[in-house]
Amino acid sequence: MSMKFEGRDILSIKDFSVKEIMHILKTAKKMVPAAKGERRDESLRGKVLATIFFEPSTRTRLSFESAMSRLGGRAIGMADPEASSLKKGETLADTIKMAESYADVTVLRHHHMGAARLAANFSAKPIINGGDGAGQHPTQTMLDLFTIWTEKGKIEGQKVALVGDLKYGRTAHSLSYALSLFGAKLYFVAPPTLQMPKEVVDDAKVGKVRPKLTGDLNDVIGKVDVLYVTRIQKERFPDPQEYQRVAGLYKVDVGLLEEAKKDLIVMHPLPRVNEIHPSVDGTHHARYFEQAFNGVPVRMALLALILGAVE
Ligand code: NCD
Repeated sequence: MSMKFEGRDILSIKDFSVKEIMHILKTAKKMVPAAKGERRDESLRGKVLATIFFEPSTRTRLSFESAMSRLGGRAIGMADPEASSLKKGETLADTIKMAESYADVTVLRHHHMGAARLAANFSAKPIINGGDGAGQHPTQTMLDLFTIWTEKGKIEGQKVALVGDLKYGRTAHSLSYALSLFGAKLYFVAPPTLQMPKEVVDDAKVGKVRPKLTGDLNDVIGKVDVLYVTRIQKERFPDPQEYQRVAGLYKVDVGLLEEAKKDLIVMHPLPRVNEIHPSVDGTHHARYFEQAFNGVPVRMALLALILGAVE
């Protein structure tokens, strides 16, 4: 695979090699001072990013907008489909065509799996998947990898437990594939009804080490280097009673962390509901807020690469 980023879509983490992902992470590292506002960078001056979000978002949209601003570009956005022509019945194809004529790159979040890939068929300009239903969330995966890489020094060989809603959680879907590709050792911790879909487990066998599946967090807490906690995806449950049965199943608190390795880091793509007790925030294990910040330099790197401002 050649390392060409300019003009590329970012639809699935599976479209990227280890070498390419490492190049993105290294580019992101150089972006950190500008991401913090400590250095000025104008390399995307005059460029426009469109954000089209059919589902709620805080971090993904804000960090993309921040990333664009930190590089001297501009973001235009549509966060509320209720207030747009989508309400009048406009198709996704037409909406994407419009965004393409107003902006240089578009981030799309949609409730249907495969929506971003479909959108990319209609657009000559790059489309970034900001989450497609229970499918993928590739830019989240890149910032998750960036967090593990900067915190731990390397990704290969890390023992990582993914905990919570592995059935519907798109962040877990893209991350498990990538971690396997990098040679991490995976533990999937979920009740049987929320375990990883078979095809995602198969994808996570791309590396040398096979993932282990369990329902019991106590089985793995003493072994792992990274605990990646996820929210139960309430909005994707067909039956609210089914949600009630599994809500609040795993709770990470300071008591549980007494069993953990000293240098365990706790990550979460956020938003959290009640999976991580706020008392964990003050411990040396917590990394979810740093992780959320990392969305800015990683998205700066992606925008600069696909818009051809850096190589
Ligand atoms: C996640 C998402 O939207 O998939 N949020 C995010 O982008 N950081 C996780 C979630 O909603 O639980």
